[in-house]
Amino acid sequence: MAAVGRVTPTVLVAGIDAAGRPAHPALAEALAGAGLVVGAARHLAAVPLPPGCATVVLGPLAPALDRLAAAVAAGTPAVVLASGDPGFFGIVRRLRAAGLPVRVLPAVSSVAAAFARAGLPWDGAAVVTAHGRDARPALNACRALPAVAVLTAPGAGAAELAAGLAGWDRRLVVAEHLGTPDERVTWTTPAEAAARTWADPHVMLSLAPETVPGRVDLAPRSSSTVSTARKPAEGAARGLPGPPAAGADGTRAGDRPAAARPPTAGSDTMRADDQPAAAPAGGWALPESDYAHRDSMITKAEVRALAVARLRPRLGRLVWDVGAGSGSVGIECALLGAAVLAVERDPDAPIRANAARHGVDVRVVTGAAPGALAGLPDPDAVFVGGGGPDVLAAVADRRPPRVVVTLAALDRVAPAVHLLRAAGYAVDGCQLAAARLADLPGGSLRLAATNPVVLLTGELP
Ligand SMILES: C[S@@+](CC[C@H](N)C(=O)[O-])C[C@H]1O[C@@H](n2cnc3c(N)ncnc32)[C@H](O)[C@@H]1O
Repeated sequence: MAAVGRVTPTVLVAGIDAAGRPAHPALAEALAGAGLVVGAARHLAAVPLPPGCATVVLGPLAPALDRLAAAVAAGTPAVVLASGDPGFFGIVRRLRAAGLPVRVLPAVSSVAAAFARAGLPWDGAAVVTAHGRDARPALNACRALPAVAVLTAPGAGAAELAAGLAGWDRRLVVAEHLGTPDERVTWTTPAEAAARTWADPHVMLSLAPETVPGRVDLAPRSSSTVSTARKPAEGAARGLPGPPAAGADGTRAGDRPAAARPPTAGSDTMRADDQPAAAPAGGWALPESDYAHRDSMITKAEVRALAVARLRPRLGRLVWDVGAGSGSVGIECALLGAAVLAVERDPDAPIRANAARHGVDVRVVTGAAPGALAGLPDPDAVFVGGGGPDVLAAVADRRPPRVVVTLAALDRVAPAVHLLRAAGYAVDGCQLAAARLADLPGGSLRLAATNPVVLLTGELP
């Protein structure tokens, strides 16, 4: 015989659709019997509320959570209205964290709707948020990956993100007020998006050109193309869906680690940001033969392994590779998800070809450091593979949390350590000299020495 117990009252969390469809039929029923409804002002205004039903307008979440907890304890039917899929960068996380039992009626997320409006697949896209947090990890994801959707917030929207994409070849889609009569979807460039004002709420898609076949007409400096404002579907016409109040939904850290990336959208799997980072499919610390390089101007695989580990690259971070040479260190940081700026004075250095060969996007700045460093966006970590004390001093001036330096000349080691320490870095170092297996005639083996290198790591406390 089935046990008969008291049914735990749950909070019904219903998404308002960003695709412009009518709300879930179960919502009307739940609203009719609701004693408490919580939501952004526009969401509350968009649905029929029963007479005498209490409402809490979001804004700040804490009072709403208290009211919901009291409603659950009292057995009062409660409904929360949210945008899109409330379990996707939405309020469900905060409700669960507050210990509230929930039943979720998801609608189409703004991210799904934005990709649909753009007519693009999005199963390989990263989704990050700049909502209520430092926007730099989201920006660095746009710099690193070919297809990224950014959930934005006032002050951390398409204009601000686009300004930070100067120098990266990207097409942008800005999708404002999705699913409402005010919906507007605009194809644009970073330069143009940075100079415009965008209405909240909006989602920004950042796309490497190869992810948008057929949109090659939109050259980086061309005028923007604004799509015809879409006629809202039936539900929107009835006023059901509406944009959320900024800051109403609980969100979480937005940087998501990357797997090794193919150059097209839709062909890779992104993971949630609190999961372990995936290693690149082909590994790293790759042999020098995997890179075009001149006169052995390449950080050797064994040294590169430690240098890359010390730089701690991952999605959401920006790494500078200064004196990049072949670009191997920066490329391996990019394989691990970081956005990378390679600074190299030799215009013929094969960095771009090497990056293309490994399927990563590395922005190359051709010029001599320290001059070429001026105006570059602030890094999270810097590899200094070339350049003198003036370069290291200029790097330390930018206060990156981590600096990794390789030095072949012994007389430069002590000054570099002193310089970093004087700048407040805790410095660690070692000498690396790999002896590699090599064949001798007759089937014997020998050890072939590679040149010793000193590797220094400076970390800000
Ligand atoms: C906290 S997130 C909520 C995401 C929501 N759970 C979803 O699935 O769409 C809030 C952000 O979602 C985006 N957003 C939500 N509704 C939108 C809409 N109707 N049009 C455009 N963007 C929207 C905006 O970037 C907004 O700042």
